[in-house]
Amino acid sequence: MRRTPGLPQAQYAVSARVARVLLPRRGRSEVTLSSTPKTAEPQANRCRGGPPAYHGCSSPQSLRPDDAAPPAAGAVWTSTPEFRLPLTQRLWIMIELEHLTKQYDAKTVVDDLSFTVQPGIVTGFLGPNGAGKSTTMRMIVGLEQPTAGTSSVNGHRYVDQQAPMHEIGVLLEAGAVHPGRSARNHLLAMAYTNGIGAGRVDEVLDLVGLTEVARDRVGAFSLGMRQRLGIASALLGDPQTLMLDEPVNGLDPEGIRWIRELLRGLAGEGRTVLVSSHLMTEMAMTADQLVIVGRGRLLADVSVDELVASSASSVRVRSPQASALRLLLAGDGVTVTTEPDGTLDVTGLGAEDIGSRAAAASLVLHELTTQQVSLEQAFMDLTEDSLEFHGSTTTANTTTTQDKKAA
Ligand SMILES: Nc1ncnc2c1ncn2[C@@H]1O[C@H](COP(=O)(O)OP(=O)(O)O)[C@@H](O)[C@H]1O
Ligand SMILES: [Mg+2]
Repeated sequence: MRRTPGLPQAQYAVSARVARVLLPRRGRSEVTLSSTPKTAEPQANRCRGGPPAYHGCSSPQSLRPDDAAPPAAGAVWTSTPEFRLPLTQRLWIMIELEHLTKQYDAKTVVDDLSFTVQPGIVTGFLGPNGAGKSTTMRMIVGLEQPTAGTSSVNGHRYVDQQAPMHEIGVLLEAGAVHPGRSARNHLLAMAYTNGIGAGRVDEVLDLVGLTEVARDRVGAFSLGMRQRLGIASALLGDPQTLMLDEPVNGLDPEGIRWIRELLRGLAGEGRTVLVSSHLMTEMAMTADQLVIVGRGRLLADVSVDELVASSASSVRVRSPQASALRLLLAGDGVTVTTEPDGTLDVTGLGAEDIGSRAAAASLVLHELTTQQVSLEQAFMDLTEDSLEFHGSTTTANTTTTQDKKAA
């Protein structure tokens, strides 16, 4: 059954159910049950006119009309990822969290978390250590009981899945393997208990580059080899959805590049890929969409491109009359920081404005350079209030409006 956008709700629900039945386990990305083009749809079209569960919009964030707008101070920043699949396929191949919450004693480690992980892209689950990423992932696969809220994988609670290894492949704890068992035997045990043949075991061993050591004891494996074995386990059921917790830990640069390409390839086939990390730079190279958390709370759900585009820039200014320039520039919304080498770092004013004001005041400039804030900095700015563990750094000398008034 085909569906065009704007069908009445009843027809839509029927076509979604039929789609579920018709979607084959392999070659999913080749099946097109919808006439909807694969390009991104406006949020308004995607999320209105039916129960949220059929629209991938059940999280309150994604229903916000001002998705594309930059975040207001303190607000959760959300946007719609670019979709690569027709809507009918998207409906069923995703992870959804609604108000997911976990408390240990009095401490809330996952706090009212709602977001949707879409197929066809890599979604990075990013947050500092202790942000609640692993706890969230454990709740998604039923290893922890939520204090409140729900999560579903491909439209069902994980515990209700008929064949969970085919629905979602999971890497949570790469070390959780019997050290006396060979890599192949470990995978064979998993395969046999899930109705998967030995052929698939050899296939995934080859895919992760462990064929040569397949009969070696896992106890002798390096952390990187264990990560590869964990990824092989996740891929064993040829799942529609992949969820990997910090998979690049322990991998060498070649391994990191390999996993990046693997994840992008799997997403390119139309699968849903959720991968956690505390490293912004790594995620920026791997993910299309970023779900950023801090102290268990959702801080942002944005595309990498948006995050790059919105990163506030500053202007580096060098002048032999830096003190006078500093007082001239600082004002409402403008912050001037004196760096240890005497240069000024100005935010809130563009290079042109700074140059014009300096010229009008006959102040000499030796350098005027616009500096894009790095993604790492954007991530730190977003999460600085929610860090569980702080290191100390030296502080720079900053002039604000108050300083100027005092001067
Ligand atoms: N079983 C547990 N009992 C008590 N606290 C826990 C438990 N598991 C995790 N935590 C706490 O929950 C917080 C989030 O942990 P975690 O989900 O592992 O964060 P992340 O994976 O983002 O680093 C941390 O403060 C951690 O100490
Ligand atoms: Mg973790």
